[in-house]
Amino acid sequence: MDTPFVIDPLARDSAAEGALLRAAGPVVAVELMGGVRAWAVTRDAAARELLTDPRLVKDAGHWAAYQRGEVPADWPLIGLAVPGPSMVTTDGPEHRRLRALVAQAFTPRRVELMRPKVEQVTAALLDRLAAAGPVADLKTVFAFPLPMTLIGWLLGLPEQDHAYVRELYERFFSSVRSDVRATIAALNAFVLGLVAQRRAAPGADLISALLAADTEGGALTDAEAAATLRVIIAAGHETTVNLITNAVRALLAHPDQLALARSGRVPWSAVVEESLRWTPPTSNFLFRFAAEDVTYETSVIPRGDAVLISYNAIGRDPARHGATAELFDITREPTRHLSLGYGPHVCPGAPLARLEATVALPALFRRFPELALAIGDGELRPNPTMVVNSLRELPVRLERR
Ligand code: HEM
Repeated sequence: MDTPFVIDPLARDSAAEGALLRAAGPVVAVELMGGVRAWAVTRDAAARELLTDPRLVKDAGHWAAYQRGEVPADWPLIGLAVPGPSMVTTDGPEHRRLRALVAQAFTPRRVELMRPKVEQVTAALLDRLAAAGPVADLKTVFAFPLPMTLIGWLLGLPEQDHAYVRELYERFFSSVRSDVRATIAALNAFVLGLVAQRRAAPGADLISALLAADTEGGALTDAEAAATLRVIIAAGHETTVNLITNAVRALLAHPDQLALARSGRVPWSAVVEESLRWTPPTSNFLFRFAAEDVTYETSVIPRGDAVLISYNAIGRDPARHGATAELFDITREPTRHLSLGYGPHVCPGAPLARLEATVALPALFRRFPELALAIGDGELRPNPTMVVNSLRELPVRLERR
């Protein structure tokens, strides 16, 4: 492998890091924390090709370094690189079996039926934000509880569990903690508890529906149901909270763009797509594995190596988005970003994420037309993670002083 590019989980500017990565080539040797090596896909064209290449598979059985025991047991990203048996660890017919049930629940038509619920939760949270003001952390009071309440509602999670779930996932997505095994064990215990509860007393929620479904290839085992729930809960809130937080930050840093959106001349859906492109909530997605040697241009990914998709680098690729790729520009058309994935593993929750953000953002700026950052943009602190673009908090002032 060439001298690797080191990805820093504490990078304050992940976009700048993405630019360096992209400049290094379309497929770049990288080193992650703990000395773990991988290849990063950094450009749009390479991602479109490699995300549909059946030689890159999701089963960690193909990860040579892991199979040889070279990946430290307490590696902070182990739960993301080697998750339980679900749609994110499988390909082909097994992937279709595990994904079908979930994908059915999130079709655009089904999701559209949730609009009144999304509007109702948004309105209630805006009241809560108003009560928390005049200065409040938009992330904690608004951007986090919105997706969490909705995914919790779909899955039938009691509200008193939401804070616990948030804490577990913040630990899980951290790239620097060494207690990852304990976090994974706690997450597993939590989701296995849900599975046992719903097997004993099914309800009208998505967990009960998943357990009841008897797909071709058999119903979900407890381990599959638990791993699937872990993925849905993680993806269902940790990404959307960052989409909303990052979009608000981008708009406040670009008052001209905010004015365009507020005037109705540019639809809020364009704001959401541009925010997804400019600051992808999923910054670096772990992992695919080369089942055979895979050549892309001059890079050869040897069989057994791990591959990460740097949505961070891909989102601002000038070859796809033109010379202004670095600019936040909601009038850009069409956006055609890959921040919700591409190919067979493309995000099945995309309609829900888009619905939540296109309801939340205009409602927020309608309710608080004077919304402003309470501290300087440069003082905002990123979370210590290289897998999501996430701020620790987004302190805002709700009204002009
Ligand atoms: C997969 C991003 C919201 C569920 C993905 C992938 C991306 C992504 C990039 C593909 C990863 C890859 O294989 O390279 C996002 C973003 C979201 C979001 C940016 C919000 C802004 C959601 C929501 C749900 C969800 C709300 C569920 C309710 C999933 C699942 C997968 C996935 C289950 C795995 C699909 C598979 O492996 O077949 N997401 N997602 N996501 N997402 Fe999302």
